[in-house]
Formats: sequence, structure tokens, C-alpha cells
Amino acid sequence: MKFVSLTIKTIGLAAAIAGFTASVNAANETAADRTKPIGEVCMAGDPCAAAAVASAGTGEARSGEQVYSTKCFTCHATGAAGAPKLGDAAAWAARLSERGEDGMYQSAIKGFKAMPAKGLCMDCSDEEIKGAVDHILANSK
Ligand code: HEC
Repeated sequence: MKFVSLTIKTIGLAAAIAGFTASVNAANETAADRTKPIGEVCMAGDPCAAAAVASAGTGEARSGEQVYSTKCFTCHATGAAGAPKLGDAAAWAARLSERGEDGMYQSAIKGFKAMPAKGLCMDCSDEEIKGAVDHILANSK
């Protein structure tokens, strides 16, 4: 009987060690996930790594296309939340005829219904936002 109980204890200890090792591995994986380069984490929808680099760099204004493709496209490429899609000429023509180009700029800068102010690009200047609007409009005719 003593032998059996010793074996059970040994198995128990082995299981505990195995469990510990597994949880250490899990912890390592989480740490690895957390320390993934920004580019990998952001890549799915938003090349935010590129945006961060662009704005941290020389301080030069980003082009309309850069702002669009890092900030606006998450909604305006997919139509998320009812956003008019880039390339949808009819949708943009209707908005333009109601509010004009200046109205588009104002909506983009200040927000408009489900459109968040500056498309959530809080470090974008008004000029950069206007450039992004121009980029959208130029590609939606
Ligand atoms: C979180 C999603 C989201 C992001 C990001 C976003 N938009 Fe929008 N945008 C919308 C939605 C939704 C609408 C439609 C609002 C409505 O009419 O209800 C809209 C509408 C607009 C309009 C038309 C406004 C009008 O007066 O009709 C412009 C211009 C615009 N967005 C520009 C931009 C620009 C430029 C960016 C990037 C800097 C951007 N958006 C980023 C969701 C977004």
C-alpha cells in the first residue's frame, strides 16, 4: 500500500510540474504576443505603425492619401457604421450637393452624425484632414 500511495504522490507531483511548465509556457506566449512589433499588431486594418512613424518623423504634413489609408479607410473602405465608401460616386455626389466641398471639410474636421471628428485622428491637422477629404472625393467621381 505504501508503494501505491507513493506512486500516486509521484504522479501528482509530476502532474503539478507539468502544469507549472504549461502555465509558464502560456505566460511566455502572452508576453511574446504583447511584445510583438507594433506593425504586426496594427496590420489587420490599420497601418498605425506607419502613421506613428510618419507623424513622429520630420513633422511634415502627411498627404491626403497617407491620412486616408491610415485613418479613414477603416470605415470608408468598408462602409462601417454607414460610412460612404471611397469610390461610391453616387453617395458622395449626394453629400456634396447638400453641403458642398466646404461642408465635407467641416464634417470631417468637426464630426457629422456617426462620422467622428477628424476620423479619430487626433494628431491630424485640419489641413491633413482636408487633404484626406480631397483624396476621397478625387477617387469617388
Ligand atoms: C469610425 C468610422 C469612421 C472613420 C475612422 C472616418 N469616418 Fe468619415 N464617416 C463615417 C460615417 C459613419 C459617415 C457617415 C455619417 C452620416 O452621414 O451619418 C462619415 C462621413 C464622412 C464624410 C461626409 C460627411 C457629410 O457631411 O456628409 C466625410 C467628408 C468623411 N466622413 C471624411 C472622413 C475622413 C477624411 C476621415 C479620416 C480622417 C474619416 N472620414 C474617417 C465614419 C468614419
